Amino acid sequence: MVTRADIGVIGGSGFYSLLDDAEEIELATPYGPPSDVVTVGRIGSRSVAFIPRHGRDHRFPPHRIPYRANLWALRSLGVRQVLAPSAVGSLRADYGPGTMVIPDQLIDRTSGRVQTYYDTGGAVHVSFADPYCPSGRLTAVDTALATDWHTADAGTLVVIEGPRFSTRAESQWFAANGWSIVGMTGFPEAILARELALCYTSLCLVTDLDAGVEAGQGVTHDEVLEFFAQNVTRMRSLVSATVQALPEERTCPCGSALDGLKLPFDLP
Ligand code: ADE
Repeated sequence: MVTRADIGVIGGSGFYSLLDDAEEIELATPYGPPSDVVTVGRIGSRSVAFIPRHGRDHRFPPHRIPYRANLWALRSLGVRQVLAPSAVGSLRADYGPGTMVIPDQLIDRTSGRVQTYYDTGGAVHVSFADPYCPSGRLTAVDTALATDWHTADAGTLVVIEGPRFSTRAESQWFAANGWSIVGMTGFPEAILARELALCYTSLCLVTDLDAGVEAGQGVTHDEVLEFFAQNVTRMRSLVSATVQALPEERTCPCGSALDGLKLPFDLP
């Protein structure tokens, strides 16, 4: 039997135990191998493929993650809806550590990352005004609100190049612009999902107040890792419940993102 999955999860390695009847698949893509072997299994009645974004041993820093290979691998397994949990810093004092933000907008402050599949064979201009799947977002928000998470049902995620954290002035500038949270992996993941006509929903766990919000030395790597580790079980439950609540049929616009465009190759 050919292994297939409907839903993809790209997250930290704490998510392996989400999956029942799991099988590991080594996949090659035109963009090289994904971050690690893909684990395919079930959550309730849904078939799910999981990729640890940074690799099992956390070998890929945010700017080196093989984003194109990861999304391509998921699509080649049949995945059409992707959930993307990640750790973020907060740019608002009222979104303290432990807040779950389901962003509806994104600012790209990365530089030098390959952010398209369509760099040869003619121009393909994909709409990205609303970077996240509306029905995936609604599902994630409803699921989070039904739990004890402090939930923000919208917000703007600014994605920085990393691997360093922001300076205090950068962070204050982000906050002054009205942006809500800051992370390092949400782009180009979101646009690459859109370029493959996948639904993409970000579930952002605030692990710290960023440097512009809190006085003191600023955020540290250990602080982020420790907070994420303390919350991984809760996060896993939220992702699991969201997977099971996602609609079986897609009625959102994400699947038609490429309609009318002349693609230089067939999608997997
Ligand atoms: N990931 C977790 N916390 C972060 C922060 N403050 N800035 C960027 N990425 C983060």
